[in-house]
Parts: sequence; structure tokens; C-alpha cells
Amino acid sequence: MIDIHSHILPDLDDGAKTWEQSLEMARIAVEDGIRIMVATPHLFKNRVIDVHQINNKEIILYRITEFRQKLLENNLPLEIIPGCDFPLGLESLELLQDGQVLTINDSRRYLLLELPDTSLPPATEEICYHLQSQGITPIITHPERHFIIQEMPQKLKRLIDLGCLAQITGQSLTGGFGRAVKKFSRQLLKQGYIHLMATDAHDSHHRPPRLGGALTELSRLIGENRARAMVTDLPQRIINGEPCF
Ligand SMILES: [Fe+2]
Repeated sequence: MIDIHSHILPDLDDGAKTWEQSLEMARIAVEDGIRIMVATPHLFKNRVIDVHQINNKEIILYRITEFRQKLLENNLPLEIIPGCDFPLGLESLELLQDGQVLTINDSRRYLLLELPDTSLPPATEEICYHLQSQGITPIITHPERHFIIQEMPQKLKRLIDLGCLAQITGQSLTGGFGRAVKKFSRQLLKQGYIHLMATDAHDSHHRPPRLGGALTELSRLIGENRARAMVTDLPQRIINGEPCF
């Protein structure tokens, strides 16, 4: 399997804190059958917009090189691809224009787009359209956990109609974020609003990098072929910078 959303690199955000934790997460992922992980630290180190505290391309790529070496030394067969968790906002967009933001695999074709926790700014559609016009497809992360989308799923449909993709978190489907989120996840999946599933792993205990259990659940809901594609073929196309459909 391929995981396109993870906070596995250490000491960059609220994910892994140390190399030991990163390696422990890598062990869990490998055991679970994940063979490729896209490391996607939050663009702003503390998840607060501060242009002096950013995880720019250079910082993330350096950390990736270090991690690859450590995985080799520890005989962990996990491939790490660079990426970033990009928050919706004008400051982020300026950094993207400036070439400081790492898109998935640095291809400038796909970008994880995190909506604000409790709002859906009116400019969201315009920003998504703007990104698309530059050849970058936004991947809306965990819409099932977004308060406004829970109330108004048609807002997500609008973004998908604009060409955005949507990524569900595996743990949402297995109940890790509560019953309401699980139920809403199932609804979005049945409506065909979800294209990808990822771990959004932050640590080895509460939010570990596992997809196996969620894949079983997903297969029951939408059939094995479509479920598998969400954690294999489609993520691979995204990493390759190829069209998904
Ligand atoms: Fe994330």
C-alpha cells in the first residue's frame, strides 16, 4: 500500500518528535503492508501561520535524505517520498508562488490541501480553481472531520466538481474519531466523494501509520477493487504526477 499523508519526519510539526519515533512509525507501517509513504509535514511548524516558521522545500528534502539513510541502516523496506500538508490561506499561496512549498514528490501536480479546522472561507473555491489553472490538483484532506462539510456535504461536492480530489483518514473509518465521523465517512464514500485513503499518522500509539483494518472496512463498503485503488493505483499516479482519471 501507499500512504500519501503522514507526519513521520521528526521535529518539524506535531508529528514524530525524534528519529526513534519516526523509525518506530516506519516499523508499524511496514508490518501493516505499507511500502511507500509520502512524508507531509505541516507547512507551518506550529500549525500557526508564521512565515518565519515554515517547513520549506529545503528543510523537508534534507530531513528526507537523512530518514532514507536511517531506514537503510535499520533494514526497513519503506520508501519515503517528499510532500507537505498545505493549509488554505493567502500566506501559504504566496510561499507556493515563491517556490518554497513542496508539492507531492516535488512535481507541482498534486498538493495536500488542509482546510481551516472550523471554517470554510468563501475564497476556497477560487483558490482551488487558481491552483488547478496552474496545473496543481488540490487533494482535500480528511473532509469527514470538517465541521462545515459535515453540515453541508454539497460544499465538498462543489470542490470535487472543480477537479479537486478528497482523501479520507483510515482511522475515521475504523471509529478512531468517534461514531459520528465514522458514519459521515461511510456516507461520503457511498456518495462517491472520496478518492483516496491515507493514515495522516502523527505517532505510533494514538494515530499510527496503519491502513490494513480500514482497507477491510473500505472494501466492504465500496468493493475490493475500488478500495484497493484508493491505497495503491491512485496514490502511485499522484506520486508519478500522472492524471488520476
Ligand atoms: Fe496532516
